[in-house]
Amino acid sequence: MERERWGTKIGLILALAGNAVGLGNFLRFPVQAAGNGGGAFMIPYFIALILVGIPLMWTELSMGRFGGHRGHGTMPGIFQLLWRHPVAKYLGVLGLLLPITVFIYYLVVESWTLGFSFFSLVGKYNGATTQEAMGGFLRGYQGIARNDYFNGMYWAYFFFIATAAINYIVLRRGIRGGIEKLANIGMPLLIVMAIALVVRVLSLGTPDPSKPDQSVLNGLGFIWNPDFGALRNPKVWLAAAGQIFFTLSVGFGAIQAYSSYLRKDDDVALSGIATVSTNEFCEVICGGTIAIPIACAFFGIAATQTIAQGSSFNLAFQSMPIVFQHLPLGNIFGFMWFFLLFIAGVTSSVALTLPAVTFFMDELGWTRKKAVNVISIFTFAASNLVIFFLVHGFMDELDFWAGTFGVVLLAFIEIVVFFWVFGKDKAWEEITRGAEIKVPSIFKFIMKYVTPLFLVAILATWAKSDLIKVLRMDAVSPENRPYVWGARALMLAIIAGFTILVAIASRRGGLSKERNVI
Ligand code: ALA
Repeated sequence: MERERWGTKIGLILALAGNAVGLGNFLRFPVQAAGNGGGAFMIPYFIALILVGIPLMWTELSMGRFGGHRGHGTMPGIFQLLWRHPVAKYLGVLGLLLPITVFIYYLVVESWTLGFSFFSLVGKYNGATTQEAMGGFLRGYQGIARNDYFNGMYWAYFFFIATAAINYIVLRRGIRGGIEKLANIGMPLLIVMAIALVVRVLSLGTPDPSKPDQSVLNGLGFIWNPDFGALRNPKVWLAAAGQIFFTLSVGFGAIQAYSSYLRKDDDVALSGIATVSTNEFCEVICGGTIAIPIACAFFGIAATQTIAQGSSFNLAFQSMPIVFQHLPLGNIFGFMWFFLLFIAGVTSSVALTLPAVTFFMDELGWTRKKAVNVISIFTFAASNLVIFFLVHGFMDELDFWAGTFGVVLLAFIEIVVFFWVFGKDKAWEEITRGAEIKVPSIFKFIMKYVTPLFLVAILATWAKSDLIKVLRMDAVSPENRPYVWGARALMLAIIAGFTILVAIASRRGGLSKERNVI
């Protein structure tokens, strides 16, 4: 059996970095940091990075390479190879459910970024210079309100179709001709635009001398001054760990699909560290310097706090356009901001779809064309539910179960299967084989004991503080409950669908067979 491969090492690293660097770095991170103790947030953040993020990155990269060169690039097949137990392959369904569920809403937000980059260039939101006006612009675009800016969802739908089409084309072109090429062009462009925006923000100083408190320096102080008292709050630790999962794309099953296209002895250790470092540069240096400090410089700290508490979308789509209207060449900077988000989004969203595509190709023997067509039609239809039920909490429900809870659960199962069932020595051999750096042996201990304990602690704290409330929909208004049930039904349908497909693949004898991959 012939399997597609990454073209070059740098292409692989850029693709992995593209997988990780996403909307989470520029939108989610600054809001999480500012809302959870500022500089003090970085303490649990870096602890989670070392104890969970890097170990999971190495685990997932080596699991994917292990499965890939035996012909199984997704979690059902990989678990089945690592743990010869009939239940193993069904646990792997999580590794298909989570990325597809996240993709379903991620695609919608990504399409907003494409739309807003176009509006920035043509100046469509020019004149909307207050939070209310820009809020109206955003709601009009999303189809939540009809107003002077929009009287329907035509624009939003157009950009949604365009975004879905771009994702489709990249996936149809495959690993080397699609995903790798996108990353080779997109990632350098993203980094250049991010640095240009950082330099622009840092050079702003105090935009209005009559309001000396509103400065970039105070904005940086707001996000980075440590509030050590926050460290006593378990929610801050949960937020930090949750951010690590989301930003590195670990716990989704997406890293494995990428590394399944590696060769048997290709390095994973250095590639993992290179991916994490690029992601952290984009997150901590760039993500932490753009949105929040610029908002503080123009609106003041108190107003920024209110905006950020509302949602990270308000900050990105409502406040940033106002700021750009105050800057010379604001249209260009606005375009750069939203297009940067779009590139970050598209290089992550193709990664979220790849596990399902790889599953169909590896386990059911479909062609890439058939796999990409079926997945794209399904996700396109499902994303429509997000678009039309946006205000009813549909997206939040998918995000909680897949993007917040599910990733920790899958990560826990992965590390236990790899280090406890498959065995720590064999797991370590997988991580270090072909390594172009020496992996510190302390990580063998961390991965076997500390990472799973850390994950159990997160799951238990979450379960205690949130699970029942979320299950009972305490925070959901009665009129929104049917929609939230709808989101749950969608996820159950995806689970049922993949479970049946795993059973079919297994009955055909394919799932546990090691194929000779060349
Ligand atoms: N890792 C991706 C992001 O940060 C999902 O958006």
